[in-house]
Amino acid sequence: MEKLKQIYEGKAKKVYSTKDENLVIVSYKDQATALNGKKVGTIKGKGKINNKLTNHFMKILEKEGIPTQFVEEISETETIVKKVEIIPLEVIIRNFAAGSFSKRYGVKEGTKFENPCFEFSLKDDSLNDPLINCSHVLALKIATKEELNTIKNYSFKINEILKEHLLQYNIKLIDFKLEFGKTKEGKIILADEISPDTCRFRDEKTNEVLDKDRFRKDMLNENYGYEETYSRILKN
Ligand code: TMP
Repeated sequence: MEKLKQIYEGKAKKVYSTKDENLVIVSYKDQATALNGKKVGTIKGKGKINNKLTNHFMKILEKEGIPTQFVEEISETETIVKKVEIIPLEVIIRNFAAGSFSKRYGVKEGTKFENPCFEFSLKDDSLNDPLINCSHVLALKIATKEELNTIKNYSFKINEILKEHLLQYNIKLIDFKLEFGKTKEGKIILADEISPDTCRFRDEKTNEVLDKDRFRKDMLNENYGYEETYSRILKN
C-alpha cells in the first residue's frame, strides 16, 4: 500500500491517506518536542524505535482483547493503521508520582500509588492541554458517559498488561499517555503511539531514566532511553 497525500503533520508523526478510505499510513519522525513545543530537537533513530515499540505493544494489547488501530508495519518508520477520528483527550495513567503530578500536588517524584491514578487533559495546544474531569468531558460533548467508561476500563487494563510485560525487561512503568479514536462505525479503539515519548520508563533497580525525560530535562545522552528500551524489548 502506498502513501497518497499527507493529511496531517504532528510534532512526532505525519499521516498520509491511502487508496483505502478506512486506512492511513503513519510515518514517525525523529523530531522531538517538549514543554508544549517550546523545546525542539532531533533524536536520531527515534522514529524507527517509536514505530517498532508502538507496534510491539499494540500487538500484545490486541491479543489481550484491547481493540487497537494497528494494521501492518510497512517500513522501519511507517505503519498502516485504521483511520479514526481522534477523541481530543490525553488519557494519563500513573503508577508512581512524576512530572506534572508531582509539581501540581507537591508530591515527591517516585512515590508509589496504592491504586493507579487516572486523569485526562483536553488535547488542545492553544490552551496548553488543560486538565479536565469527566463532567467537563460530558459538558463539552467530547465523549458520552458510555464512551468514557470504555476509555477508562481499557486504560486500566492496558496499564496492567504493559506493567507486567515491561517488568520482564526490568523496566518500571511510571506513567503513560494514551489516545483513543472512533472508527466510522463508532467503535472506540486505542490509537496513537506507546513509546518512550509517551511513557515514563525507569530501570526497575537503579531508576535510570529510559525515556524522553532525558530530553525534557536536558540530561546527557538523550538517545539512550530510546535505544536501551528498544534493545531490552526487541533485540533479544
Ligand atoms: P506529565 O507528568 O507531564 O503530565 O506526563 C505524564 C505522562 O504522559 C508522561 O509519561 C509523558 C506523557 N505525556 C505525553 O505523552 N504527551 C504530553 O503532551 C504530555 C503532557 C505527557
